[in-house]
Amino acid sequence: MKIQKVGVLGSGLMGSGIAEVCARAGYPTVVREVNEELLEKGMERIRGSLDKAVEKGKLEAAKRDEAAARLTGTVDLAAFEDCDLVVEAIVENPDEKRQTFAALDTAVKPEAIFASNTSSLTITQLAMSTKRPDRFVGLHFFNPVPVMKLVEVVRTLATSDDTFQTAFAFAKAIGKEPVAARDNSGFIVNRLLVPYILDAIRAYEEGVGSLEDIDKAMQLGCGYPMGPFALLDFVGLDTTYYIANIMFEEYREKRFAPPPLLKQMVLAGRLGRKSGRGFYDYAKK
Ligand SMILES: NC(=O)c1ccc[n+]([C@@H]2O[C@H](COP(=O)([O-])OP(=O)(O)OC[C@H]3O[C@@H](n4cnc5c(N)ncnc54)[C@H](O)[C@@H]3O)[C@@H](O)[C@H]2O)c1
Repeated sequence: MKIQKVGVLGSGLMGSGIAEVCARAGYPTVVREVNEELLEKGMERIRGSLDKAVEKGKLEAAKRDEAAARLTGTVDLAAFEDCDLVVEAIVENPDEKRQTFAALDTAVKPEAIFASNTSSLTITQLAMSTKRPDRFVGLHFFNPVPVMKLVEVVRTLATSDDTFQTAFAFAKAIGKEPVAARDNSGFIVNRLLVPYILDAIRAYEEGVGSLEDIDKAMQLGCGYPMGPFALLDFVGLDTTYYIANIMFEEYREKRFAPPPLLKQMVLAGRLGRKSGRGFYDYAKK
């Protein structure tokens, strides 16, 4: 199957990045949000990111303008009707995602492929909320999407070979490096990364070191580009909390259990960079 037009659900951190890379790669791309205000915020984020790429000399101004012209925003699911691929990047909540996919199933042409960017839910449980589980895959991108090369392409027992190959080829066509992953909660990267960042919070709770020192130690001692708390603020504490709960529910192993401090910070609205404060205070920075 040939992908000619892409729909992206959600224009938060991930949806805006996914829409940007699709538009930059030449695909007419429709972005859908729940209301006009959030849509405008998302479109503004995409425009800002495109401008930044031009400023850094990574994108020609003419290419930015072409990419921007390929993007349209909507609050209406019906605008996805003729998309060949719809990538979902909404909140990490199984009920919300399942309801949205069920609605999408009637709004979008039957031959189109659906993909979820979920971090921790199984693709199978989302696929089964539609009548097209054979045309359903995981396309798991990494933050920030325009920069990070990896995409995990996830197939379920029901995914057809054609769908998997089309999704794999699409990831390459938008300039990413795909890897194939089995449909286990967390796929490859989060299966290994989530226990590490949760353990960093536990180490901090136990007084092993200050936030700054734990971050510095992991950067300089392991060669990581950023420490676990800088990473948590980047990913979003709310998203991490949802992911940990889902993975704990799935595996029932302590290493996936969200530490109390993570929950308290989410309840206090300290969600990381996106809310101006997480483990670090970005108003001060
Ligand atoms: N943050 C990360 O680093 C990261 C990395 C990989 C995957 N993910 C996954 O990507 C998904 C989105 O995460 P995020 O960090 O972008 O979250 P986010 O909170 O930044 O954005 C989610 C957006 O989806 C919108 N939304 C909610 N319901 C919607 C609907 N029915 N239709 C359209 N839009 C809707 C919200 O208004 C919000 O703007 C989650 O499944 C998450 O697990 C996140």
